[in-house]
Amino acid sequence: MVRVGMLTSGGDCQSLNATMRGIGKGLFNYYGDDVEIIGFIDGYKGLMYNEYRKLKPKDFSGILDEGGTILGTSRQPFKMMRVVEDGFDKVAAMKQTYKAHKLDCLCVLGGNGSQKTSALLKEEGLNVLGLPKTIDNDLWGTDVTFGFQSAINIATEAIDCIHTTAASHGRVFIIEVMGHKVGDLTLHAGIAGGADIILIPEIPYDINCVAKAIQKREDEGKNFTIIAMAEGALSTDDAQLKKKQLAKKRAELPASYDLAAQIQEKTGHEVRVTVPGHTQRGGRPCPYDRVLSTRLGAAAAQMITKKKYGYLVGMHNNEITPIPLEDIAGKLKMVDPKSEIIKQIKSIGISFGDE
Ligand code: F6P
Repeated sequence: MVRVGMLTSGGDCQSLNATMRGIGKGLFNYYGDDVEIIGFIDGYKGLMYNEYRKLKPKDFSGILDEGGTILGTSRQPFKMMRVVEDGFDKVAAMKQTYKAHKLDCLCVLGGNGSQKTSALLKEEGLNVLGLPKTIDNDLWGTDVTFGFQSAINIATEAIDCIHTTAASHGRVFIIEVMGHKVGDLTLHAGIAGGADIILIPEIPYDINCVAKAIQKREDEGKNFTIIAMAEGALSTDDAQLKKKQLAKKRAELPASYDLAAQIQEKTGHEVRVTVPGHTQRGGRPCPYDRVLSTRLGAAAAQMITKKKYGYLVGMHNNEITPIPLEDIAGKLKMVDPKSEIIKQIKSIGISFGDE
């Protein structure tokens, strides 16, 4: 009997169920009755406290297009790497559960923090496979993560809707897109939604450049401006602040409202802010993500049949590319300000607030 555990960790996204379905169907198809799949409830918490349910073939049916996660999720447990808390050793507890179920492998569907933990579990001797989840697409070692494309679709739809009302009223609109540290989602939704200004954390903005871009549109006879702004985008001044100072400032005034006030003061324009927020992580996965998730899940199942453990199941140039978990742990994949995509978008006159 082969025994496989799975859990979904961190912020949810649209294609978690589709990925688990790929793994589950792949395993049942290969092993038939000779495989047992244990689904841990609410992420690593379930592994720590041994809360689980056995997943049968029927559990993987009808969930390809279902958003959320049938297992529930929680933020990964090692914020600041506090491995022992109030005398409770989290790693020891997870290892104990893993051993109690006699698992051959644990599949972790998660983003950066979660895969850091899976690398830690690997170091502790467990067989782990990571599946790249996040709407932020900021996971090192894979071109693309599942959830990213679905979130782009939703953020783009939000920008499309704002376009018409912004044009009717002749207003400046800021659409705040998710992404605290990395702006890839904002970049793609901004391009797809035809934003005039795109602001991302990797390219700190100068308020004078933002004002100049708005003025340029006015000079061209355009009475409205659409700004796609990542929730973690910041000005060149704020980029000088210490992490704690910036966090305090943001707790008082989110980045988009801060920018709105600055634009209003500098240009006298009426500015509105729209925050699609968690809608970007909700609802059904788009077809692209369903395909990606199915492929990643199937590949993970195949790796289990070959006892190939300890990798993130990544995707490079549209081919499955396993990467050792220790090579990706703790690394963020950010937008390169000098990348081709940024140059191309700048070349059509879209401002990133830096020139
Ligand atoms: O990591 C995914 C993400 O959606 C980020 O884009 C966003 O900043 C964050 O999670 C929001 O987290 P929470 O759901 O805990 O508010």
